[in-house]
Amino acid sequence: MVHDVLGKVKSDFADRNPASRKYYEQARKYLPGGHTRTVLTHAPFPLVFVAGEGSVLTDADGHSYIDMLGDYTAGLLGHSERRVFDVVTAAMQNNFSVGGIHPAEARLAELMCQRFGLDRVRFTNSGTEANLMAITTAMQATGRKKIMVFHGGYHGGILYFVSGAAPWNAPYDFVVAPYNEIAGAVKIILKNSDSLAAVVIEPMLGSGGCIPASAEFVGEVVTAAKKVGAVVIADEVMTSRHGAHGMLDLLGAKADITTFGKYIGGGFSFGAFGGRAELLDQFDTSPEAGRERIISHAGTFNNNISSMTAGGVVLSEVFTEKVAVVHTARGEDFRKSVEAVLSRHKLSVAVSGYGSMMCLHALPQAPKSPDDVAKRDAVLQELLFFGLIERGVYIAARGMVNLSLSLTDDHLAKVLDALDDTLTSLES
Ligand SMILES: Cc1ncc(COP(=O)(O)O)c(C=O)c1O
Repeated sequence: MVHDVLGKVKSDFADRNPASRKYYEQARKYLPGGHTRTVLTHAPFPLVFVAGEGSVLTDADGHSYIDMLGDYTAGLLGHSERRVFDVVTAAMQNNFSVGGIHPAEARLAELMCQRFGLDRVRFTNSGTEANLMAITTAMQATGRKKIMVFHGGYHGGILYFVSGAAPWNAPYDFVVAPYNEIAGAVKIILKNSDSLAAVVIEPMLGSGGCIPASAEFVGEVVTAAKKVGAVVIADEVMTSRHGAHGMLDLLGAKADITTFGKYIGGGFSFGAFGGRAELLDQFDTSPEAGRERIISHAGTFNNNISSMTAGGVVLSEVFTEKVAVVHTARGEDFRKSVEAVLSRHKLSVAVSGYGSMMCLHALPQAPKSPDDVAKRDAVLQELLFFGLIERGVYIAARGMVNLSLSLTDDHLAKVLDALDDTLTSLES
């Protein structure tokens, strides 16, 4: 019954959004698929947004949405955060761009090192680049080539393991281990003990469906990796928002290198990798360091003024350690409220996640592995998405939800009502 309605739901969506459709059709002429972020693709076409304020998005047809996606975690602050806006516009009045050093770069580096327990940090323009550079750092330091990643992991467009290793991935020598399976993962580490340069791990699979790692799993993987001399790279591009010092810290482990991105740039493009001095100091090309072997890492926009300036105010004023702890707890509470709504309905929908990141799944229970995610009822998953959209709630088509700081309790109550109403109408 539920499955019969999807065609009608999609055609209603198309009818309600003629301006978005028109934009999409025109954009396809020059942009393959109509845009440059594959994750945004869904049938019949994605919405086009023309404004955002706080937690409310407005689309090209004039509809308003409570933004529950938070730009896949990059929009943690909500839209047009005033403190970021003010400090960046002031900086822009001085200078947009400089082929030199400016003070905001070292200030952000200090804030990041203090917050996330890093000796040194380097900036990039995206999380993808941060991971590529972290892998390079590990390979150069160890003289080894093999990189262990996890099934279900996502570390960037060319570091894609969500449904197995993608054929378009960067040509590293990857070995893919099972996530949250201690014996299987440790076995692979030990088997590759002489050739393993790095283990790259997300403390929670983000794009892979918000599946948190167990503390035991992370602990065993980190111990085994360190035992064989491999560099542990924690990909906290999404999860550094959790707790005061990021999610790996909450799980009781420490990486050699951590990668960052998303919200730290306050809405501007951002990436960073940082960690132990002896690894990062390979980038110290200064004459006084006098290193024989160095890694060169130039990048026109690595220290761009807008991202560096925004990052400084994000970490020092907007998303302080205290705010991060409160936001993580708020997310946990909200996920429990979502669970309570889901438990009142017959349809098989579950929620997974940690803190302010979560994912709705058309499954009887929250998934424990990427294989569970693959068993979702694809039609029900789409109906859930369109049901929420119709009720003014914007989430990812794949079910991801990320709480921003600007969401009020009233917004969250409306979202729970919209979810309840969507499920009730699908069941009738
Ligand atoms: C865990 C993780 N690592 C890396 C990336 C890549 O970051 P970016 O999109 O900034 O390249 C993402 C993006 O979603 C991510 O979720």
